[in-house]
Amino acid sequence: MTSVKNYIKIIVQCKTYNGGNMPYNITEDKIEEIKNLNDIVDVINELVPLKRAGANYNARCPFHKEQTPSFVVSPDKQIYHCFGCGENGDVINFIMKYKNYTFVETIEYLAKRAGIILEEKKTNNINNEKNKRLYEINRQAAIFYFNNLKNNDKALKYLEKRKIENKVIKKFGLGYAIKEWDKLLVYLKKKGYKEEEILQTGLIINNKKKNSYYDRFRNRVIFPIVDTKKRIIGFGGRVLDNTLPKYINSPDSFIFNKGRNLYGLNIAKNHIKNKRFILAEGYMDVIKLHNYGYDTAVASLGTALTDNQVKLMRRYTKKFYVAYDSDQAGLKASLKALNILKKNNLDANVVIMPDGCDPDEFLTNYGKIKFDELIKKSLDYFEFLDFYYSKLFDKDDKIQYINKFFDSINNINSIIERELVLEKLAMKVNVSKETVINEYNRIHKKYVKNKTNKVVKNLNSKPTNKIMRTYEDKIIEIILANADMVLLLKDFIDNKIFVKDEYNLIFKKLYDYKIENKEISVYNINELNNLKLNLEKVEEYKNLPNEDIMLLFKECKKKIKMKYYEEKRREYKEHLKKSSKEIEAKELMQKIIDLDKEMKKLKEEVY
Ligand code: CTP
Ligand code: MN
Repeated sequence: MTSVKNYIKIIVQCKTYNGGNMPYNITEDKIEEIKNLNDIVDVINELVPLKRAGANYNARCPFHKEQTPSFVVSPDKQIYHCFGCGENGDVINFIMKYKNYTFVETIEYLAKRAGIILEEKKTNNINNEKNKRLYEINRQAAIFYFNNLKNNDKALKYLEKRKIENKVIKKFGLGYAIKEWDKLLVYLKKKGYKEEEILQTGLIINNKKKNSYYDRFRNRVIFPIVDTKKRIIGFGGRVLDNTLPKYINSPDSFIFNKGRNLYGLNIAKNHIKNKRFILAEGYMDVIKLHNYGYDTAVASLGTALTDNQVKLMRRYTKKFYVAYDSDQAGLKASLKALNILKKNNLDANVVIMPDGCDPDEFLTNYGKIKFDELIKKSLDYFEFLDFYYSKLFDKDDKIQYINKFFDSINNINSIIERELVLEKLAMKVNVSKETVINEYNRIHKKYVKNKTNKVVKNLNSKPTNKIMRTYEDKIIEIILANADMVLLLKDFIDNKIFVKDEYNLIFKKLYDYKIENKEISVYNINELNNLKLNLEKVEEYKNLPNEDIMLLFKECKKKIKMKYYEEKRREYKEHLKKSSKEIEAKELMQKIIDLDKEMKKLKEEVY
């Protein structure tokens, strides 16, 4: 029942989908083969035990809470459907939803299950092979460090002193790097790896003067960093005392990008169902939180939280706790993190700990029950801003206080939420909501509806530009924000639906670029520069929720199709006027009638 077109839709819905790179050649036939060899009843039954009920099977729905089973799996149709929450689809949809997998991860999972080998894309093969070696080296190193730890009393004592239990040491594969210069290097060389390769993982450092190599991590507790595909991409290392630097990390490499990964996400993502991520600042915090059963804790990797990290996490849940150190630096970082989350339309509360503690120190000192209380008392966006700027308020510097709020509110993606926060602010400073909103609009030139429902114009927008932009341009802007979307235009491109040939050519080119895995941007597709594109919009689209983007996209598609029909109709009419043959005239009239039907259908289409 699911055609390739539907999967293309799914691909588009997977936002973080592998940076737009499909590592395999997945054809329509391959998808069919994968589905044929993965009976939906067997696949689901492995994850959610099913009971036979007549011709079908049922269970309590894994996607919503219920007492009586309304989740039905049909072996004949090879689909599932929940009559409670409406979730439905085939085996691929199920795995994507149940395991929180991307389309590609799902295909990998099901192919593996059925013993199907996926053909990797050729262009990537050389790099893939090279990177595979780097992952292998890291894995070997992690094993080496782990074994060292088992035999090193000093390091074990240190972890014990920090109240880290054995089970978490194992879960996170913590290790220890011995206090010598080349133990790891010698070990890896014995395993058959070359110095140049090891160098690329950052595990060793090149001493150019002496033309020799030495281990980066020495006399440190080791934290292997694992990505969501269970590959070890890098390491962090902590000293056992107060020497500086306290931590060192693997440098960014072909396989390690600090801004695009999070410590602990490989574990946290598996526990996220109906829970929030707990964002912490450090390795120790993550470990300690997991130690106490907070199994959704993650941390950015020694740098401030990035937009890419947020986009990566957004795949698993929309809700977060920020549990950074509650010192001045930590609070500032919390505000920054909160703003990035808000830009991405996510829900976040800040957990405030007393005396500038971090979660590790707090849990060690006060335990789980107290931390649960802090979570209960955690601050939402308004409350956090109010807390953060309370000094200004108390000093009676209300104008400053309000301005600080305004600056932050700018980050909120949702207009409704922005208005709600402004409303709370108005109450707090005891000024009418209308005045606060008008002032906000005046300063920040943003759309927020005031009481009389008039929209204050955004002075930044250029109305002339707006009039000139066509729906085709709009779609191109969407594609620039999310290249996968062009896949949804295949039938438009194949059938040359765009009235202007210029657009037929451009869209064909965009599509080909996507298929060939080339980057789609105004810098490498010259034709785009002749259009009146609004690149600010592109940035805006990048931050819109998927559903909104889809709606916009469909609206544009509808308008373009309508324009095509209208043009066709005009052509037929023109033809009809000139036609002298009766048969031909009849045919043309029939065509016009058919077109009118199509147009009526299109007009009524809802999405
Ligand atoms: N960090 C780093 N390099 C440093 C210091 C810190 O990469 N020289 C990163 C590490 O990821 C560290 C995080 O920043 O985990 C937070 O630093 P900090 O709060 O100083 O450390 P904690 O995680 O609290 O570690 P500990 O409790 O062991 O002191
Ligand atoms: Mn700490």
